[in-house]
Amino acid sequence: MSALARWYEIEGRHDLAWRATRDRWEVLVSEVMLAQTQVARVAEAWPRFLAAFPDAPSAAAAGPGALIAQWDRLGYPRRARRLWEAAVMVTDHGWPDDYRDLPGVGRYTAGALRAQCDDDPDAIGIDVNIRRVVQRVLGELLRDADVEHSAGAVAAPLVGRDRLLALMDLGAMVCTARTPQCDRCPLATTCRSHGPLDGEVRSRQAPYKGSLRERRGIILARLRDGEVVRPADCDGEALDSLLVDQLVDVRRNRVYLPDR
Ligand code: ADE
Repeated sequence: MSALARWYEIEGRHDLAWRATRDRWEVLVSEVMLAQTQVARVAEAWPRFLAAFPDAPSAAAAGPGALIAQWDRLGYPRRARRLWEAAVMVTDHGWPDDYRDLPGVGRYTAGALRAQCDDDPDAIGIDVNIRRVVQRVLGELLRDADVEHSAGAVAAPLVGRDRLLALMDLGAMVCTARTPQCDRCPLATTCRSHGPLDGEVRSRQAPYKGSLRERRGIILARLRDGEVVRPADCDGEALDSLLVDQLVDVRRNRVYLPDR
């Protein structure tokens, strides 16, 4: 067993609830949530969301407004609408051969689904954590395709699901953006950088206070709470942008969560 495999077996985050399922809908919901929301908040939201929409047909039948309402305060609610669109596609046509055909599913999520649900040994998705680990071990900044290609060598002999999750956990827990703990790292003996690389991008979310995101969130929270919302009582820019994203409807001088 490699040092990484041993580390993952002992230290990996095996108790995260979504790691216990191979169900595509359940894993898709987890990955869509995790793409922009912290693990601790997803750990609360994921079971509640799946209690409401246990499978794609139940989500498709509920309508986008129900998913947007259930999305609650996870942020970036366009994800909820895309998830509903994906649920409709899966319900009508089955799961596509290429998961990227689903609305809202890009290269990372498609790879993560193949690795976790289909036991595809070659599958991997490159998220920020995996990118950081692979780049640091190799000691250079890489393009996505090169990270994908090199992940195999960095994590060998792990493949598929275990490779994805071991690299992800190492990036989240040891090889962190700002203060990596190289003395605890199972890849330290082969790592070329032992710390951040020059030019590594560290993503920082734009401030929330006063942002359009916050103002959109206020309108959605009122609708979720069942309040009667009039367009004239809304921040105009926020309402317009919610309309463009099909996250609300306006009918007869009243704002609604969309039913289609
Ligand atoms: N397990 C599977 N995918 C994950 C992710 N994106 N973040 C944290 N844990 C995960």
